[in-house]
Amino acid sequence: MDGKLVSQSVKDVLKHRTSERMGKGKKRPHLAAILIGNNGASETYVASKVKSCEEIGFKSTLIRLEASVSENDLLFKLNELNDDFDVDGILVQLPLPPHISEQKVIETILPSKDVDGFHPESAGRMVQGLPTYYPATPYGILLLLEHYKIETKGKHAVVIGRSNIVGRPMSILLSRNEYPGNCTVTVCHSQTSDLKAMCLQADIIIAALGKPLFLKADMVKEGAVVIDVGITRVEDATKKSGFSIKGDVDFDAVASKCSFITPVPGGVGPMTIAALMMNTYKACEAKD
Ligand code: GUN
Repeated sequence: MDGKLVSQSVKDVLKHRTSERMGKGKKRPHLAAILIGNNGASETYVASKVKSCEEIGFKSTLIRLEASVSENDLLFKLNELNDDFDVDGILVQLPLPPHISEQKVIETILPSKDVDGFHPESAGRMVQGLPTYYPATPYGILLLLEHYKIETKGKHAVVIGRSNIVGRPMSILLSRNEYPGNCTVTVCHSQTSDLKAMCLQADIIIAALGKPLFLKADMVKEGAVVIDVGITRVEDATKKSGFSIKGDVDFDAVASKCSFITPVPGGVGPMTIAALMMNTYKACEAKD
């Protein structure tokens, strides 16, 4: 599955819709991103989010804060963005420096601007099947499954990982009573006793545990759909940057067994961005 291609087609649709909005004199979608400190991976992710906004014709505001910023100053900034009518979506790139409470930050963002879908109200609404913003990575995976018309009804999905950002919301979305969903879902994690046996039963595997090349060929049933959420930087002296990006799946060995598989890079990563753009567009549209 080509996440780059599908992401581009989602962004093309949003670009078209945005230019239509502008033609009708409506508001331009506006994403505000806060980047704290200088974590290399976070810098890269935020840069691609801002670049995608530009491509589509969204306004973006990038707010860079020192790693030493106080929690109070960050919360104050978030409240300013909450009060700014022009800002439709707010995201704070995670992880945060240890002296700042992630939970407080997440709960300070207004649910109506919570385009990351991390606020407990957004999560609760998702669980109850109410309209809300879904976290970008699981939402991007749904868009990918939909694009490739992957049958999900009655399938057994095994989600490896239970984070609030990917594993947990993914498991809930795949079990909901609409397409792409209606799966029987098993959530596996670090305490699962026989992970291999679980994976071998799976029609769909979502690998979101953050361990490079973890999922091997002998853990995958013939014909399975494998979605790789991993994006770990590993040292690689042959690369100019000094690192390469590895997924959670041993792609070269696993690919031949799968009906569909996502590569890393070029799979889930670009879809996460496309999903964030969708959420930002919807947040703007909600104000019409
Ligand atoms: N860090 C890792 N994934 C994400 C994400 O989807 N959103 C934000 N804000 N931070 C992240």
